[in-house]
Amino acid sequence: MKKLLSYLFTLGLSITAMAQGDNYVQDYTKYQGLALTPPMGWNSWNKFACNVDENMIKQMADAMVSNGMKAAGYTYINIDDCWHGDRDAKGFIHPDATRFPSGMKALADYVHSKGLKLGIYSDAGSQTCGGRPGSRGYEFQDALTYAEWGIDYLKYDWCNTEGLKAEGAYKTITAALKKAGRPLVLSICEWGTDKPWEWGQNVGHLWRTTGDIYNCFDCIKDHGTWKAWGVMQILDKQEGLRQYAGPGHWNDPDMLEVGNGALTPGEDRAHFTLWAMIAAPLIAGNDLRSMSKETTEVLTNKEVIAISQDKLGIQGFKVSGEDGLEIWAKPLDKGDWAIVFLNRGTLSKKINFEWAKQKVYDDINKLDAAFATTNYTIKNVWDKKDKGASTTKKAFVADVPAHDVVALRLTKKK
Ligand code: GLA
Repeated sequence: MKKLLSYLFTLGLSITAMAQGDNYVQDYTKYQGLALTPPMGWNSWNKFACNVDENMIKQMADAMVSNGMKAAGYTYINIDDCWHGDRDAKGFIHPDATRFPSGMKALADYVHSKGLKLGIYSDAGSQTCGGRPGSRGYEFQDALTYAEWGIDYLKYDWCNTEGLKAEGAYKTITAALKKAGRPLVLSICEWGTDKPWEWGQNVGHLWRTTGDIYNCFDCIKDHGTWKAWGVMQILDKQEGLRQYAGPGHWNDPDMLEVGNGALTPGEDRAHFTLWAMIAAPLIAGNDLRSMSKETTEVLTNKEVIAISQDKLGIQGFKVSGEDGLEIWAKPLDKGDWAIVFLNRGTLSKKINFEWAKQKVYDDINKLDAAFATTNYTIKNVWDKKDKGASTTKKAFVADVPAHDVVALRLTKKK
């Protein structure tokens, strides 16, 4: 009886709420149906830091179209920190008038006219990491402004947030974005401090799992009060997180350093391939206007992108790692698998991989590659000459160069 009464009471409350319309109801959940595969795009930070302006952003949009990246699936042109000017007397934010004289709406219109989407950056605290106005206390106003400008993606950072709790702060901005009414991808940039993977799934579409990436393959950059991490260090920090990723909600190991000069072509390949394997967002961070042929080939490799964008959205996993040679696996649609051999060492390594003897099993999704009983065709996705003629009936023999990968797509043989 008590239960029934309490049920009737709750029902009564929700009917009253509905009758009043939703004016007083906050919806703390993200826009659904976005980022069903890991987002692909470009962001200004890794290469340009605070040096952003509207001409450069327009040129990046042009370049993304002309260099084949748009055709390969890249969509977002994201302005990171430092686009901001001041708030006006009513509290509305304006872009820096010298750097963005035409305003953000005009810039969004331009990017949209190229068939691309525009992303912007703010911070849950009083100031951004670059010392520009943050959104704390202005969340609903800022969300409204972004909607009016036509913004499609918001990266929301975590500097200067004294006294705030991450989950609440990110729920506040997501409620504000919902109220503003323009569907947009929310990128939670909280560096993994408060385990956003545990509460972020309904709040945002991706969440940073670590501090910032540093432009090196295998090193740690100590900034004194904080550290930045090389590609291999970031990769290692993803352990234990794959269960939280899936369509619409991704672990974000930070943006790509491919083409930024510090990595060798092999390291660029390895970085890009591993980010595809762990279903990371593929957000390029280099100058798209002046890409080398090698960089273009890495960023637009259709077969690697297909591994990243596979519709199952399963984050891959490390099968084994001995002597610096790691084997990674990712289950793909229709029973396919991606298998990657990563050589973290400084000497080339020979592999002789006898499929039938290998156990490759995804214990979260209960998927077994079953090499002993299933035959697959093999396609080496970085080898243009490979026509995919060999199968897993025979051992796979190859050299994996130092700091490089050999990446395979296996397709069930009919
Ligand atoms: C933080 C973020 C970076 C970048 C900068 C901008 O460090 O983690 O990705 O957005 O702020 O100041």
